[in-house]
Amino acid sequence: MTHDTLTITDNRTNQTYTLPIENGTVRALEFRQIKAYPEDFGLMTYDPAFMNTASCQSSITVIEGERGILQYRGYPIEVLAEHCTFLEIAYLLLFGDLPNETELKNWVSEITHHTMLHETTKKFMEGFRYDAHPMAMLVSTVAALSTVYPEAGNIHDPSNRLLQIKRLTGKMPSIAAMSYRHNLGFPYVYPDNDLSYSENFMNMLWKMVEPKYVANPVLAHALDILFILHADHEQNCSANVMRSVGSAHADPYLTTAAAAAALSGPLHGGANEEVLKMLDEIGSRENVPGYVKKVKEGHGKLMGFGHRIYKNHDPRAKIMKWTADQVFEVTGRNPKLDIALELERIALEDEYFIKRKLYPNVDFYSGIIYQAMGFKPEMFTVLFAIPRTVGWLAQWQEMFLQPEQKIARPRQIYTGHKARPFLALERRAPGGTRKD
Ligand code: ACO
Repeated sequence: MTHDTLTITDNRTNQTYTLPIENGTVRALEFRQIKAYPEDFGLMTYDPAFMNTASCQSSITVIEGERGILQYRGYPIEVLAEHCTFLEIAYLLLFGDLPNETELKNWVSEITHHTMLHETTKKFMEGFRYDAHPMAMLVSTVAALSTVYPEAGNIHDPSNRLLQIKRLTGKMPSIAAMSYRHNLGFPYVYPDNDLSYSENFMNMLWKMVEPKYVANPVLAHALDILFILHADHEQNCSANVMRSVGSAHADPYLTTAAAAAALSGPLHGGANEEVLKMLDEIGSRENVPGYVKKVKEGHGKLMGFGHRIYKNHDPRAKIMKWTADQVFEVTGRNPKLDIALELERIALEDEYFIKRKLYPNVDFYSGIIYQAMGFKPEMFTVLFAIPRTVGWLAQWQEMFLQPEQKIARPRQIYTGHKARPFLALERRAPGGTRKD
């Protein structure tokens, strides 16, 4: 017998079962053969927040949480952030290898030529209230693109899938910039094909009456690095939504909108907005110990702290700090940084946070950088969604290539009523009881 097995004794029946172990994993379906009596459904596993369940096999991104390691397709994030552009990383995530010069030139050209939005998108955007949350505008507008590209529903055709991937990668910054300018009441700006991905995004955000927008190279580079850091993060909440909704064969625009909706939550990508609210609430360095005390007493959480997988440090947070220094050289130092640094210092020395392995995550510093660049906190998660779209699409595409792929459909443990008699309306009393 091979050693890569697990032997289980069911004490209800005294039966022994031997289950294969593959990649450090036991297939949950193997448990189904374990029955207490012949008609028994068989054992299930229960894991409400996927704490110990692999939902797919993936070769895109790996996180080693205990060692603070993040790699895209085998390359450490630190190396990629130092040497690559965001579109190189997009190619790497989507196609598996870094592009050579010709491949990169063609890829950049293709994405650049997909940045334009259909004119009706402008009208759609104009329908939102002046103070609509940009993330809600982004989610709705991405979903609305499904009406512009009905052929996107043909998800079984690889070339059609690739076309939609290019469109979504190209159009995401355009939608994000529209939502930004909508809040400000400024006219929307068309993309400029002479500019790089980040520069063009800055052009669509900040161009006013000048004939040609010239981006500050330090800020453009910083944005590109932030995009690289946020591009993918294996089976996080929104990637799981992307795969789950995609498994029902919804088109990629609706599927991406669903993933973006998950990202907007304050426990996920929405945390960067919450960090700034928290720093505002703290107000000054002197108030930090009092705030930390309140958190330890169970009043709220330190936003931007903690992670399901990282239990050492988040490698992205270190690059983020370096990027912040570059940005502050141009914009001036964000005074919130002092509060953030003090918060980090106190929390990292505190037994409560040490014991629970709570470290600053990617969202802790990103908001401070974005604010220094001139973004309101409401825009922060939108800035996260732009690069993460590439990660979602890589996960989505990989899902179709897996032979075991089926519609995602978990089981439940039913805790409700047993079958009970129906009561006609006139016989019902409050609380489901009968009148007589
Ligand atoms: N501040 C204070 N205490 C915390 C924090 C925090 N930020 N995060 C976790 N804890 C505590 C929990 O209360 C719990 O304590 P207990 O054991 O005494 O009950 C313990 O640490 C374990 O936390 P869980 O909530 O079980 O950890 P989980 O893996 O489910 O949650 C999460 C991870 C959602 C990121 C959590 O740490 C959190 O809410 N952080 C703040 C929000 C945030 O920054 N989210 C961004 C994550 S990165 C991203 O998605 C892009």
